[in-house]
Amino acid sequence: MHKALVCVLSLLCLAAAGPARAADAATLARGKQLMEGIVACGNCHMAVSPQGEPQFGKPLAGGFKFDDRAFTAYAPNITPDVATGIGGWTDAELGKAIREGIGRDGRLIGPPMPIGFYRHIADADLAAIIAWLRAQPAVRNEVPKSVYRIPLPPNYGPAVGSVAAPPQSDKVRYGEYLANIGHCMDCHTPRDDKGMLMRAQWGAGGQAIPGPWGVSISRNLTPGPGGLKDWTDAQIAHTIRSGLDRKGQPLKPPMAFWFYKNIDDAEMAALIAYLRSLAPLPFAGKS
Ligand code: HEC
Ligand code: HEC
Repeated sequence: MHKALVCVLSLLCLAAAGPARAADAATLARGKQLMEGIVACGNCHMAVSPQGEPQFGKPLAGGFKFDDRAFTAYAPNITPDVATGIGGWTDAELGKAIREGIGRDGRLIGPPMPIGFYRHIADADLAAIIAWLRAQPAVRNEVPKSVYRIPLPPNYGPAVGSVAAPPQSDKVRYGEYLANIGHCMDCHTPRDDKGMLMRAQWGAGGQAIPGPWGVSISRNLTPGPGGLKDWTDAQIAHTIRSGLDRKGQPLKPPMAFWFYKNIDDAEMAALIAYLRSLAPLPFAGKS
């Protein structure tokens, strides 16, 4: 009897820890690392209080309102609730929404969701993000529809095929990959009159970002004048994780410090290596 019991138990254990489940656990762990760290979808998709205040650490039930000249957008509920969230979406539909900006109804997902950056998300990381989303509690929350007062582009580019992340051993390229999926340059690059990011000023800061916090001006992340050249790696890492600048002063939102505190040392080192590889530029805003 003893033997049989052990057998049953070990079968259960095997079933629970067999190859398929082990992969699931690793995928979920990667999803957690990304979603509670550099990818930080929750910085936009978090639940908001009845007063519209962000509820960091709460489910991604949406409702945060982005007021802009060109649009009034609401971050949707992306918890697994079937009626009001993404519970009824397939993995393929979710992948298309995240990486190509095409919604379930075929409609283009508008700004400020940074689709141009999310096109870089590698297949394995996309699967990890989706697995993590599906493992969250479902929250029923109906969010108003966004209104765009500008025509949206027909698409964000051709269909995304298969994407692989660069090897972690290539610190600069892996750091660039992380900066893309964390959309750092979405805020840290100035925009032209049409709202497009100015490629020639990559990372030079100076973008004005209005919100409930007033107006934040993004800073220069390049090694140019007024940038990060004189900062040590430890200072850069501390600022990104704590939201305190070099003098210990708190930085204003909307940078996702709340999440970035979870970026691990290897990822932080890659991110910093990438920032140090940027073309040195002067601050693009008014100093
Ligand atoms: C800068 C803010 C921002 C970030 C960051 C962001 N989103 Fe969004 N997202 C939005 C907004 C706003 C919309 C709605 C746009 C619209 O109405 O066209 C949206 C739409 C979506 C949709 C479509 C949902 C629906 O019901 O139509 C999905 C799915 C989604 N986001 C998932 C994600 C995931 C996953 C991430 C992280 C990888 C993410 N978003 C990061 C702002 C953001
Ligand atoms: C949603 C917009 C946004 C995103 C995304 C963002 N930042 Fe920021 N960041 C800002 C703003 C705005 C400030 C300045 C805040 C202030 O002045 O109070 C800032 C400040 C900083 C600073 C402080 C620099 C200084 O001179 O004090 C660093 C370093 C930084 N960001 C790095 C990053 C990195 C790396 C990423 C990606 C992982 C990132 N940021 C993503 C908006 C953003």
